[in-house]
Amino acid sequence: MAKEVKTIGVLTSGGDAPGMNAAIRAVVRTAMNKGIKVKGIMRGYAGLLQEEIVDMESTSVSNIIYRGGTILYTARCMEFTTEEGQRQGAEICRKHNIDGIVVIGGDGSFRGAGKLAALGINTIGVPGTIDLDVACTDYTIGFDTAVNTAMEAIDKVRDTSTSHERCSIIEVMGRNAGYLALWCGIGNGAEDILLPERYNGDEQALINRIIENRKSGKKHNIIINAEGIGHSTSMARRIEAATGIETRATILGHMQRGGTPTCKDRVYASIMGAKAAMLLCEGKSNRVVAYKNGEYVDYDIQEALQMTKDIPEDQYEIAQMLVK
Ligand code: ADP
Ligand code: F6P
Repeated sequence: MAKEVKTIGVLTSGGDAPGMNAAIRAVVRTAMNKGIKVKGIMRGYAGLLQEEIVDMESTSVSNIIYRGGTILYTARCMEFTTEEGQRQGAEICRKHNIDGIVVIGGDGSFRGAGKLAALGINTIGVPGTIDLDVACTDYTIGFDTAVNTAMEAIDKVRDTSTSHERCSIIEVMGRNAGYLALWCGIGNGAEDILLPERYNGDEQALINRIIENRKSGKKHNIIINAEGIGHSTSMARRIEAATGIETRATILGHMQRGGTPTCKDRVYASIMGAKAAMLLCEGKSNRVVAYKNGEYVDYDIQEALQMTKDIPEDQYEIAQMLVK
């Protein structure tokens, strides 16, 4: 029979994402509603190993649903990728009577959660990353806010790019994934979208398209470049030299990770956080909550980590067609 769950922990790990606070709030309040104690583990797995563990009350999560970032702070922790680090982490959970942990983060954080589960600490993952690069889910907490933040910034760059009749390369985050770039490309009506999943490195073809666009009367040329391709500044220099069109690079950077979460991020985060806490309270372990084909579901962590997903080809083709 599954051990009775009396206390659970919650942590955020990897890059922060707007909406993580809403997820933390949902975990705390759902568990407390079921008479289960909650401990906040600060700074992800790094804080676990340092025993930075605090008791959480219902009021600990008051007034955070609208705040970007994570009140628990976050970190990347190399030590936790070692067997010794994981063993210590599990021991510390036992010392603090933590029966299970909700881990809010991306694939890397779920790998850590899988390791803790194998050591007898129940874990449930909640997908939180602006990159949307968790294969088992169509939605990750933070993507909606980040893509809207980037879209607004790109609109602003477009104004000045048009006034100066320039070409603008705008680099968006996403690590090795092109979801943010694809969405901005479509949402901002960009002339070109460079995705790590699709770009073949043919810069001459890109330059030819810019020249064609100028001949057809376009006053600006917006290129969304994904971080996974990078090199936006040097690309801008080469485009300017080849086309004679003034070209500027803008790297949006960490502003995309901040700011008040959109309603969508708050709602999905609240539901996913609550579902994760419920799973832990039921004694479940080694699962990740996901949103798939219009439903909230959960998967075995190892199965989830083996899933793959790709940029939808039809969406990519439509994006290219709409700018011609
Ligand atoms: P994300 O969770 O957004 O993918 P990272 O890949 O940076 O972010 O992973 C976050 C943290 O998860 C790492 O700093 C590390 O502590 C932990 N982690 C990543 N991979 C593993 C692994 N294979 N085993 C155990 N812990 C891991
Ligand atoms: O995973 C989120 C993310 O913002 C990626 O898009 C980016 O590659 C990375 O984190 C940046 O990490 P850091 O904040 O450590 O520079």
